[in-house]
Amino acid sequence: MRAAVLSAAPSPEPDRDCPLCPRLHDFIAAWRKREPGWFNAPVPTFLPPEGESSVRLLIVGLAPGLRGANRTGRPFTGDYAGDLLYGTLIAQGLARGEFKARPDDGLELVGTAITNAVRCVPPDNKPVGAEIATCRTFLKPTIARFANLRAILTLGSIAHQSTVRALGGRVAALPFRHGGRQEAGGITLFSSYHCSRYNTNTGVLTEDMFVNVFREIAAFLQS
Ligand code: URA
Repeated sequence: MRAAVLSAAPSPEPDRDCPLCPRLHDFIAAWRKREPGWFNAPVPTFLPPEGESSVRLLIVGLAPGLRGANRTGRPFTGDYAGDLLYGTLIAQGLARGEFKARPDDGLELVGTAITNAVRCVPPDNKPVGAEIATCRTFLKPTIARFANLRAILTLGSIAHQSTVRALGGRVAALPFRHGGRQEAGGITLFSSYHCSRYNTNTGVLTEDMFVNVFREIAAFLQS
């Protein structure tokens, strides 16, 4: 009986063959055939070596990029978005080492964890509403696993909205805006435009804008 209760606890990580979103499951299955050397599975949360009790900041991205995290198995690793994100984390003391866009580059997070609102790579980088809602099954326990969490940074409006819902908030009351800082479920929620190549190429997000968000977070964490 006790074992049954324990096994019913929601897991923060999907199974490698998670079947909950048939479209994403089939997409990954097709890429496993095409690129058997790639990771091709739900991408797990990237944790610091000091463990989950050291995590005070959680960063929530959108979903693995096809040739980025879906290929390498580590969030934001292997595509442009990671260059800006990890470079900024290192500069703000939230990561140490060198980012070489490979999961074995030795880069370590400091007091920070990185996850995605949707764990499986979606076709055209676009998860549908039902997939975002279904994957909150994992986002909620991911937030809950960090006993000392003080802040969440969401990258882009989809990650923001799913995180607000995961925290039990109302999206209408806590709208997304770049540079936003709001309180939700006992957590301070920061938000930024996503650090995608598209956003930086079009000038929606400049490096300075991104760095400023992290400066504010670093100051908040030190307060
Ligand atoms: N890679 C990720 O892991 N997440 C994103 O949101 C973008 C790229």
